[in-house]
Amino acid sequence: MTAAASIPHPNPLPARGEREPSDSEAGEGQRNVPVIAIDGPAASGKGTIAFNVATALRFHYLDSGALYRLIALRAMEQGIGVEDAQTLAVLARDADVTFEAGRAMLHGRDVADALRTEAVSTVASRIAVHGAVRGALLARQRAFREMPGLVAEGRDMGSVVFPDAKLKVFLTASAEARAERRYKQLIAKGISVNIDGLLRDIRERDIRDTTRAAAPLVAASDAKTLDTTELSIAEVTTAVLALYRERDTAA
Ligand code: C5P
Repeated sequence: MTAAASIPHPNPLPARGEREPSDSEAGEGQRNVPVIAIDGPAASGKGTIAFNVATALRFHYLDSGALYRLIALRAMEQGIGVEDAQTLAVLARDADVTFEAGRAMLHGRDVADALRTEAVSTVASRIAVHGAVRGALLARQRAFREMPGLVAEGRDMGSVVFPDAKLKVFLTASAEARAERRYKQLIAKGISVNIDGLLRDIRERDIRDTTRAAAPLVAASDAKTLDTTELSIAEVTTAVLALYRERDTAA
């Protein structure tokens, strides 16, 4: 999933000051835009899969985790505590975040690489427990829903943000397989890491993501669950595209 921040985001977030649709407007005006929601735990491969599916269908792509990471990085830079839900919510609403030519920008700075550190991962998952932060990011996420369609990936795309998604996929894989994938990605980038530490971080994030009160990581009741432990990226991408074509033909 590390590829997600360094790949093109076809549609930038609205610039600060630009009007974003309200929750209800977003539902009204955008209902006809098909959404594929791909959710799953850390390092389940959802970023790469979602991007591949978006590319194949020429749909827009939303990496919602990058939004949580951007807010986490800003909070770290400004010394805002992870428990300060109200200040964090204001930050989530007002921070100047855009995706330009595949790079995540924070107040005009390219921070795509900084977003992928384990420190930012941990703070992102800690600030994501606050309902006020999640609420502040709702409209920003829904603003990505534009024709001809959207592939959105995260933890609550199918359960909360796009409950009317045409297809909902929940990707799973064992914690060990996910730690190994993350390990290989980081080693390939020349970053030396300890696999036991990665496995511990992934397990801690899983617990935080699944047990929080606000929008916990859970497969939507109408989601199709795919266990990717033994599958390649290409196999999962093909499976998701096949599921979508089935839905599209049935519609
Ligand atoms: O997907 P990624 O690992 O980049 O997300 C970083 C963190 O942001 C996750 O561990 C999770 O706690 C949070 N997140 C979330 N809801 C989303 C996307 C990410 O709570 N839709």
